Amino acid sequence: MNIQVLTLFPEMVRPYFSSSIMKRAVERNLVRYNIVNVRDFAADKHKSCDDAPYGGGAGMVMKPEPLAGALDSVEAGRKRTIFPTPSGRIFDQRYAGELAGESDLVFICGHYEGIDQRIIDLYVDDEITIGDYVLSSGEVASLAIIDTVYRLLSGVISDESLTEESFTDGSLEYPHYTRPEIFRGMRVPEVLLSGHHERIRAWRREQGREKTVRVRPDLVE
Ligand code: ADE
Repeated sequence: MNIQVLTLFPEMVRPYFSSSIMKRAVERNLVRYNIVNVRDFAADKHKSCDDAPYGGGAGMVMKPEPLAGALDSVEAGRKRTIFPTPSGRIFDQRYAGELAGESDLVFICGHYEGIDQRIIDLYVDDEITIGDYVLSSGEVASLAIIDTVYRLLSGVISDESLTEESFTDGSLEYPHYTRPEIFRGMRVPEVLLSGHHERIRAWRREQGREKTVRVRPDLVE
């Protein structure tokens, strides 16, 4: 998968691609990425990328020309282009699975009050919100979406990890334990030490169900 990230703050985005599991995915060529500094496409001598909103009101709006220049430079017109925004469609595991089927994704990281609507009309395929709250930077939302999507690509993590985690079967994941067997007086549940795989599977399923009912009743049909 090829990922383009258009941002005014490349230094927020770069470390993500050179850390942890993403770093390995890049090294194995499962992910190729390109970070584009939108400011490089600003035309005036101050390299300005934002301006006051027509009609008045609070905050600044990202100007269309630098964004259009950056988008054209990555041929966004021929690629699925995503703008994370609180006013978008809600992101979830199913949506992530759909995006994982694309060969190319372009992300526009918004700042200030938003971006000029004409950029959305001309280039954006998906306006996506990662939840009902407002972040100060689109970079954080873009990286949350990227992180959820790329790990679904074949070879990034084990198939077993993917099938056992939260949301894949409509309920939350069971609790995990590792050594030591006793930590601050708290014992690992006996069943996990039994070696009885059928009982362990049943216990985990029940724990996952119980937690789903308790913390996410909206997920229970
Ligand atoms: N930008 C600011 N807040 C956001 C949110 N909740 N989802 C996506 N992008 C955002």
